[in-house]
Amino acid sequence: MLQLDFFPRTEFKALSDFQKLESVTLSLADKKRLINYPDFFQTPKANDVIRRQHSNHIDKILGFRLKYIEEMMVAEARNFEPDGSHESWGPKIHKGAQTWVGLDLQTLQTPYSEILRILQLLKIKPYQQIIDLGAAYGRMGIVLGGLFIKNPFIGFEYVKARVDEGNRIYKELGFNRCQLVTQDLFAQNFELPEADVYFIYDYGQVEHIDHTLKQIALIAKKRPVKVVARGKFTKKIIGQYHPWLELKYEGKLEEFFSVYAAYIN
Ligand SMILES: C[S@@+](CC[C@H](N)C(=O)[O-])C[C@H]1O[C@@H](n2cnc3c(N)ncnc32)[C@H](O)[C@@H]1O
Repeated sequence: MLQLDFFPRTEFKALSDFQKLESVTLSLADKKRLINYPDFFQTPKANDVIRRQHSNHIDKILGFRLKYIEEMMVAEARNFEPDGSHESWGPKIHKGAQTWVGLDLQTLQTPYSEILRILQLLKIKPYQQIIDLGAAYGRMGIVLGGLFIKNPFIGFEYVKARVDEGNRIYKELGFNRCQLVTQDLFAQNFELPEADVYFIYDYGQVEHIDHTLKQIALIAKKRPVKVVARGKFTKKIIGQYHPWLELKYEGKLEEFFSVYAAYIN
């Protein structure tokens, strides 16, 4: 059982345990203790609704100011397009990039418990590099920074406000191997760095994801890579146009991701 300053007997069995943690202002030392504890990232129940609520509690416990940042962007987008939606607002204010402005925050991001499951399945070794392509607020970096402290992480993200907020939390928690970088993945001059694992959750339009997968293919000619794909677009594009990626694990039921591997000789 985890010992925190406020709660000497902290358990993670029900959502109410997380609610309790959210209801007080935790010390930084307590936040750091929490993220070192795998059960903190484990959903109390394996269903999608609980998984999202659990992630929402974690965001609040860690002090992310997500709602405010997203609402500011929605307000800006509404000025341009009062009758728009999460399909059109992002491209409107971000030069065509599909940044999903106005989308529910728990749909925008992968639940923490699913990220934990992915990282455990990958059996990553210390010092292996992980990259999230379209990282939003960088949840993957939070799980890595708490539990896989020897693994460097870069999350590329178009929206600077999301990057700044994620980096603020990383800095507060003292992560020195995790960073978010403001970057348009579709930019002509962007060169994708080499990594052991790439994570893609439907970050943009079909041609954007296809472009990124082609960049990963070039890297896979030099070294083995793994690609974790979440969301129907990315998996469909891989299935149709990227046979060089070999399916290693296919998530079933409420596991919305698949794992692929490649080393093109
Ligand atoms: C569906 S979210 C996934 C977030 C995160 N990977 C996760 O799973 O929690 C996709 C993210 O990609 C970002 N994105 C979209 N187009 C992009 C581009 N051209 N370059 C960089 N990021 C982009 C969006 O702003 C959004 O935050």
